Amino acid sequence: MKQSTDKARPYLHFAPKKNWMNDPNGMVYFNGEYHLFFQHNPYDSVWGPMHWGHAVSKDMINWEELDIALSPDDLGMIFSGSAVVDWKNTTGFFPEEPGLVAIFTHHSDRKEGAPAVQSQSLAYSHDNGRTWVKYEHNPVLIHNTKADFRDPKVFWHGELNNWIMVLAAGQAIMIYSSPNLKDWQLESEFGEGIGNHDAVWECPDLFPLPVENSTEKKWVFIVSIGDNPSLPMGSRTQYFVGDFNGKEFIAEHKDVRWLDYGMDNYAGVSFSDIPEEDGRRIYLGWMSNWRYANQVPTTGWRSQMTLPRELSLTTKNGDYLVKQRPVMELNQYFIKNKNTKPIHLNREEISYFINEPYVNATFRITNKDAAEYGLKIHYGERKEAVVFIQPPGKKAILDRSQSGITDFSETFSTKQTVQLEQAEDISMQIIIDASSIELFLNDGEYALTSLVFPNEICERISLFAKDGAMDVVENCISVPSTDFKK
Ligand code: FRU
Repeated sequence: MKQSTDKARPYLHFAPKKNWMNDPNGMVYFNGEYHLFFQHNPYDSVWGPMHWGHAVSKDMINWEELDIALSPDDLGMIFSGSAVVDWKNTTGFFPEEPGLVAIFTHHSDRKEGAPAVQSQSLAYSHDNGRTWVKYEHNPVLIHNTKADFRDPKVFWHGELNNWIMVLAAGQAIMIYSSPNLKDWQLESEFGEGIGNHDAVWECPDLFPLPVENSTEKKWVFIVSIGDNPSLPMGSRTQYFVGDFNGKEFIAEHKDVRWLDYGMDNYAGVSFSDIPEEDGRRIYLGWMSNWRYANQVPTTGWRSQMTLPRELSLTTKNGDYLVKQRPVMELNQYFIKNKNTKPIHLNREEISYFINEPYVNATFRITNKDAAEYGLKIHYGERKEAVVFIQPPGKKAILDRSQSGITDFSETFSTKQTVQLEQAEDISMQIIIDASSIELFLNDGEYALTSLVFPNEICERISLFAKDGAMDVVENCISVPSTDFKK
């Protein structure tokens, strides 16, 4: 599956068959299927007139791309938004059986000289998202002064018995409520004096998570921040932890917390309507960066999504921390082929030969007195991406400057760094696909998502210890399961 002559084309990650993709939209689980809609230009492999593309999956890994779900109309292009199941027929669209409603932004440039107009609209589907009807009284929410007013993420609030919408407006998030998805009331605005304000805020998401090992529940607010030329990392995503009383979100902290320390995870939000028995909060992002998304070296298609990740909330040194791990559905695509013994490395490097199109490797390393240690991913004979762990500075750094094609953007070779609490004992999970590396440190406490364009498969992974010794206490390398390779 997904084999292609284009060597950058991913195996495990969703990418459109043709042309441009950006944000994941309308992610929802309904009638046994996960739906992934996405920002899509069906005419070219660069950003352009936005539609909602559509794919479905039973496991969030193996996706089937379907026809375009939503196309531009008189109100404008179709920008980002969400989808929900209207179980109680609050909209009146579903007299017979529950169905899907998409809540999205219409974006119009039509007034010459005047700012773009962004408004929120609805569409609904009676056939599991295969075809859509736009609501005849669109738009359902406008703003008279804000030019940036977009990316509605909607959820049902069971205790209040109404819908809540979070919406990006400039560098703030507006929170609205509604009984029926059609009439919206402003409840509050969030963002002033808190978090990172380097660029426009986009694609918010708000959801509760239980705090691990406690009976407490907290709300997590995810906010993506756009690019501007002065930013070293381009577009990024931050999160806040706090409480939501149905009207207002009150954060527990003012400082900036990054959801990902890599450059290629943007505009991610979570799936709606995952059944309560399942109970997971599953997130997926656009695996690119506005700094170079339009230039990445692929032919005929552009962009892919991150792997779906289960989010959880933990406490560390008195602070809340959002953890993320690839969903367990991923496991069936791998078999463990090498569960190697613990090893001691002293000023040396050892290699595990791979030669597979994608790999899932985990290592736990305890440092003795190495000044630096880590792993290298070798593509072919000369290209490599390196993860350096530096105990003195407590840093983990991914360097992709020698990983293949990088010259499409100066920013692409920037080192991506995680500041750790300690770097003496570390666990790493690393998932390598044709053109990406997803690194999860310490059981998902830190994620680092990064594209690479080696155009060769992973030939080997090596571990190294520099100027001292370290112990590899656990190591496990998994390769594609036979039935997936067919
Ligand atoms: C984020 C974003 C959204 C917007 C969409 C347009 O990447 O800029 O704010 O709705 O992309 O394609």
